Amino acid sequence: MGSGLLILLQIYLLFVSFSTSALGFQTFHVVDVRAFTPRNVCSGPKDLERRVSIKPGLKIVDRHGPCSTLPPVEKLSLEQILSNDQSRVDSIHRRTSAVSGKDKTSSGPLTTSQVTAQYGGSYGISDYIVSVGIGTPSKTLTLVFDTGSDITWVQCEPCQHCYMQKEPKFDPSQSSTFTNVSCNSAQCTGISFGCSGSSCLYGVKYGDGSFTLGYYAKDTLTLNPDVIQNFRFGCGQNNSGLFGEIAGLLGLGPSSESFVSQTSDKYQRVFAYCLPALSSSTGYLNFGSSTNMSNTERTPIPQYSNPQYYYITMTGLTVADQPLQITSTVFSNAGTIIDSGTVITRLPPDAYQALRSAFRQHMTQYKMAPSTSLFDTCYDFTGYDNVTLPSVGVQFSNNVSLNLDPNGILVFNSSIGCLAFASNRDPSDLGIYGNVQQRTFNVVYDVPNGEIGFSPEAC
Ligand SMILES: *[C@@H]1O[C@H](CO)[C@@H](O)[C@H](O)[C@H]1NC(C)=O
Ligand SMILES: *[C@@H]1O[C@H](CO)[C@@H](O)[C@H](O)[C@H]1NC(C)=O
Ligand SMILES: *[C@@H]1O[C@H](CO)[C@@H](O)[C@H](O)[C@H]1NC(C)=O
Ligand SMILES: *[C@@H]1O[C@H](CO)[C@@H](O)[C@H](O)[C@H]1NC(C)=O
Ligand SMILES: *[C@@H]1O[C@H](CO)[C@@H](O)[C@H](O)[C@H]1NC(C)=O
Ligand SMILES: *[C@@H]1O[C@H](CO)[C@@H](O)[C@H](O)[C@H]1NC(C)=O
Repeated sequence: MGSGLLILLQIYLLFVSFSTSALGFQTFHVVDVRAFTPRNVCSGPKDLERRVSIKPGLKIVDRHGPCSTLPPVEKLSLEQILSNDQSRVDSIHRRTSAVSGKDKTSSGPLTTSQVTAQYGGSYGISDYIVSVGIGTPSKTLTLVFDTGSDITWVQCEPCQHCYMQKEPKFDPSQSSTFTNVSCNSAQCTGISFGCSGSSCLYGVKYGDGSFTLGYYAKDTLTLNPDVIQNFRFGCGQNNSGLFGEIAGLLGLGPSSESFVSQTSDKYQRVFAYCLPALSSSTGYLNFGSSTNMSNTERTPIPQYSNPQYYYITMTGLTVADQPLQITSTVFSNAGTIIDSGTVITRLPPDAYQALRSAFRQHMTQYKMAPSTSLFDTCYDFTGYDNVTLPSVGVQFSNNVSLNLDPNGILVFNSSIGCLAFASNRDPSDLGIYGNVQQRTFNVVYDVPNGEIGFSPEAC
């Protein structure tokens, strides 16, 4: 035990000096605990100059931080965020197991195949927003963006039942370019939610019970400086749920009605984002091949016949640079998606147990705190100025290896920090690479080349 600790200490000293030589991964992070706490002022991405000819360059902000121009709404507790996250994950699991033919619980009345999408409705650590313009003249609306949803929608006047939002609601009668999607058009058939007279209807119910209903429409979408004519989106007249005071949602999923598919001529289905680690910093969301940065490590997107999500092939995990002993079928039996809207990464049970056990072995100097919500590996860091964490690495096929930011390893609730991963219940449940683990990486979705790329320290 004592000598184990000594060896650990030596490894630690070794790698602190190693890390300065920029050779490979750091084995341990020594992190000032304040690094986990948002500042009161907003700061921009780390190195704007490295990103060339970004278009259209939407700023991503956490709606609760000082970078948001929306008024503060009541911040959800960590419990609520994690409970909403679990609802989203359950809904993704129901949806994907239905596709693979495995039985799960039945869907609600609105969850017919094509129109269903998931949005956890989570805020705080999960809620990333961007501003776009809709209509002529263009009205600025702030939307949550979600790679796990397809249909873009905004609340529309006249509302039958709308929640409160900060910006004035979109009023189609004030836009000279607004038209309805006709009921007998191919796009309406794709939505398959029915018609009211000649109007095409849409409806989306999300994993947490939130929903949006209305008619399907077209108008000009402005992503500064680009203008997309006849963009199809839902004009939501009956919307309810955990959307805060956001005007709607930007759907970045792979299916045919998503923003990514509709703009494929312009942006070739290539986009990239960086999710900021803290609410006091900003990230970005960019579209087009100029986002195809050469220094990303790229992993193939495995192809499925009817993909609703972006799949990715997870192959392994490391703790303190040591590969964990996880049979490769543990990952391949479950499969994995990458999702901007799921907060905490979900791993197959065997993979999670290996991670937890290795992580705990490196954290014995800290006092454990009780399990809470999704987390069973928590530490009480009261009184510590800094924390020494083992590095955590995630491997994807094609030898892609990501060394997570400390903010992707621990989630803090005041002085309690928990390992920010969770186990799936069933070994066959889909793994999900969530947004906490994506923080600070440039994540490139290059759909035509069937690749997802990552580069670290982008925001
Ligand atoms: C966060 O901390 C508060 C106060 O210490 C506690 O009541 C709550 O249960 C904690 N939440 C989680 C998810 O651990
Ligand atoms: C809104 O949709 C819900 C769910 O379908 C329905 O129960 C309710 O009657 C609708 N309200 C209005 C005003 O359309
Ligand atoms: C679009 O359809 C909706 C729902 O039927 C209707 O209220 C609205 O007037 C239509 N708008 C236009 C511009 O045709
Ligand atoms: C992205 O980069 C790769 C390699 O650098 C190249 O082969 C590919 O064509 C690029 N894709 C786009 C859409 O520009
Ligand atoms: C960590 O904190 C301790 C005291 O709390 C201090 O002595 C030490 O220098 C700090 N280490 C780093 C790397 O900041
Ligand atoms: C994978 O990466 C490791 C370390 O970065 C390297 O040593 C190894 O040769 C690579 N393997 C392949 C097949 O590229």
